Amino acid sequence: MPEISVIAGPASSDLADKIAKRLGAHLVSAELRVFSDGESKIKMGRAGKICVIVQSTYPPTDTHLMQALMLSKKCADDGSRDVCAVIPYLAYARQDRAFLEGEVVSIALVAKLLEAAGVRHVITVDIHSQLAMSHFVSVQNVSSIPILADHVSRMKLHSPVAVSPDAGGADRAKEFAKRLKADFVALKKSRDRTTGEVMVDEKLDIDVSGRDAILVDDMISSGGSIVKAAELLRKKGAGKIYAMCAHALLIGDAAQKIKAAGVQNIIATNSVPGEYAKVDLSPAIAETIKSRYSSA
Ligand code: R5P
Repeated sequence: MPEISVIAGPASSDLADKIAKRLGAHLVSAELRVFSDGESKIKMGRAGKICVIVQSTYPPTDTHLMQALMLSKKCADDGSRDVCAVIPYLAYARQDRAFLEGEVVSIALVAKLLEAAGVRHVITVDIHSQLAMSHFVSVQNVSSIPILADHVSRMKLHSPVAVSPDAGGADRAKEFAKRLKADFVALKKSRDRTTGEVMVDEKLDIDVSGRDAILVDDMISSGGSIVKAAELLRKKGAGKIYAMCAHALLIGDAAQKIKAAGVQNIIATNSVPGEYAKVDLSPAIAETIKSRYSSA
């Protein structure tokens, strides 16, 4: 494998450190200063010919995105021949199309900005949709489902059912259920595109009474989708309920609202550091990096 420099973005320094150790790569740290108006200033050490920047873009989303762009620009300016951005939580991926007339397709702009800053390849985790991926010239999506399923397989669950809070996440939850040899059901969720209000159809395709349920989603933001789903599962007599996702943004009091809705615990990856980051993404990301560069 060629010599790789792993650049620790301020949002993902622990994850970058773990990835660098797994690759046996040189870790370059970034010194951050945030001014009173919110602007970031970054100073980083000299990187090598192949740069892998690790920076998740969880909130403050735009700040973290800007920092990723700054690091990419620096690597490109220093003459790196390849800049790869590892962005586990890729902000704006949900805006992969114009849902209402006049809306901007934000993820297409993010793709262009990264490219303009010198990024040649993006590695992300559980991206919201295939459509979001289609806006990038070169992108790889790492699934967190195998490692999340492995984590859950060590928990004692009674007749588990994997539940997707909406039809869009059905394949993810189905794959999780398969790995766990559990049943699977997708709820029928709809969202008012103007008010953001979430509604769930009460009719379930399987009986969940007395069974433990694991809600599987790509991300939890306001917690609205998980709360609605947990309320329905409780109404249908489910046993213990867990919420599992790759990206636990948990804005404001989302975690408290989720627990108040009857969820025992939230299990997430270290895409977003914090209390619920129980599953380490570094093995899966390091493998993806290795397979990209092993023939270079
Ligand atoms: C939606 O399609 C996503 O997969 C998530 O279900 C959603 O973005 C979660 O957001 P919130 O926690 O705000 O409901």
